[in-house]
Formats: sequence, C-alpha cells, structure tokens
Amino acid sequence: MKHKIQNILKKKNKSKIVCLTAYSKNIAEIVDDHSDIVLVGDSLGSVLYNYNTTRKVTLNMMIEHTKSVRLGVKKSLLVIDLPYNTYRNKSEALKNSKKAIKETKCDAVKVEGGTRVKEIVKHLVKNKISVLGHIGITPQTAKGRFKSKGKNETEKRKLIKDAKDLEQSGAFGIVLECIYSDISKKITKLINIPTIGIGASVNCDGQVLVTDDLIGLNETKFRFVKKFGNIKKNIKSAVIKYKNSVKQKKFPSKKNSY
Ligand code: KIV
Repeated sequence: MKHKIQNILKKKNKSKIVCLTAYSKNIAEIVDDHSDIVLVGDSLGSVLYNYNTTRKVTLNMMIEHTKSVRLGVKKSLLVIDLPYNTYRNKSEALKNSKKAIKETKCDAVKVEGGTRVKEIVKHLVKNKISVLGHIGITPQTAKGRFKSKGKNETEKRKLIKDAKDLEQSGAFGIVLECIYSDISKKITKLINIPTIGIGASVNCDGQVLVTDDLIGLNETKFRFVKKFGNIKKNIKSAVIKYKNSVKQKKFPSKKNSY
C-alpha cells in the first residue's frame, strides 16, 4: 500500500492521476485497470439511494459497499469516504478508520474539511492511517445550494490555508471540489502533495469523477460532469431483447435449459 501512495506522489508535476468512484465489485473490476485511485465515495447516498444529502450515509453502508469494491480492486489504491459524523474528534476518527480498514481491507480514508480537521488528520496519520483530504465544496457540511469556492479573497485565503494545513497534517493528497481554476492552480503549485480535482479545472494534478455519472447511468446536471458513454442505453437495449425473447418463447432455449 505504501508503494501505491509513493507512486501517486511521484506523479505530481509528471503525469495526471486518475481517480474514479466505485460502489460495487463489477464496476470496480472495470475501473481498477484504468485508475490510480478507486474511491468508494459517500456520493453513493445520492447516486444509489436517492438521498438528498450524504449526511444520511452510515459507516456500515460504506463498509458493505467497500467490501464489494475490494473484490474488484487489485492494483489501484482503494480509498473509503468516512461518512458524516464518524470523525467528529480524534478518537472517533481513529476508531472508525480502524474499523473501516479492518473490515474492508481498504488502503486509506478520505475526510472532508481543511483547517477544521487538521488535528484529526494528524492523529490518523500518526496512527499509520493514510488520509486523503477534501476541500472546496464539502457536501457533508455544505449549507444550501452548492456554490463554487474561491471567488473572493476571503475564500481564496481560506482554501490556501485549508490545503496547507492538510499537507502539514500528513494527508497524501487533497480532493479539490468545485474550486475556481485560478485558485486550484495556485494551490496545486503551493503544495507538494497531489491535488485531485472535480470541478476544479485541468490545473489539478489529477481528476476524479463519479463513474455512474461519466458512463451515463446516473442522471446529473452538474457542470463539471461529462458523459463519456451512455451505458443506460445499452442496458435498456439488452433488457428489451430479453423481454421480447421471453414473450416470444425464444428464451430459454434448449441450450439454456436442463
Ligand atoms: O463522494 C464522492 O464520490 C466524492 C467524490 C466526488 C470526490 O467525494
């Protein structure tokens, strides 16, 4: 696991880091071959369960999905999102990180927040837990409509401090979510650990997207999402073929029968 993180760190300023989400083994097997990091994000709350907030996602849900993803991930670094209210203080964060790692065999945890969680990150790292940070829009604590960050000087200063504090605390990388491109460029230059952007421009060291969004399985209107495929169409077509075969008594054929 250490060497996987070293390889990711080495990519800074050299080649882009690819990160994708997975919530189950079948998707994990596909993305593993093409990612440096596979993230079991708490976005699964909205993508799979239709929750209006990731705050409803529990640690047990994250653990069960990560166990499934673990079966499909052989080469990438596997990161689990610690969900809301599972890392409110150092001891809670350590207890829950240890439980998540023990039960899922994942390699690292992701926590949302910058300066606010720096002592928690420090404590995890001191206890040999690898941590990916996450700043900008942090859905677990965001209030109201999601608005890009880093527009005014106060926000810019805060983002830079968040990033520096996470680096100092020992995080091995930071997700920058919905941050204006000038400031994500500045942060990426200022810190020595990789930045992984989502809605944070090409200036980051790597990119992350929710796989269900990019394959067209989940409908979303976020500006930062690009559909690279339309898997829903393919699934629909297979399902219709199946339905017609059943109705026409073509399936199951002798070949599919005992
Ligand atoms: O929950 C998630 O999937 C995430 C990524 C979008 C970065 O945090």
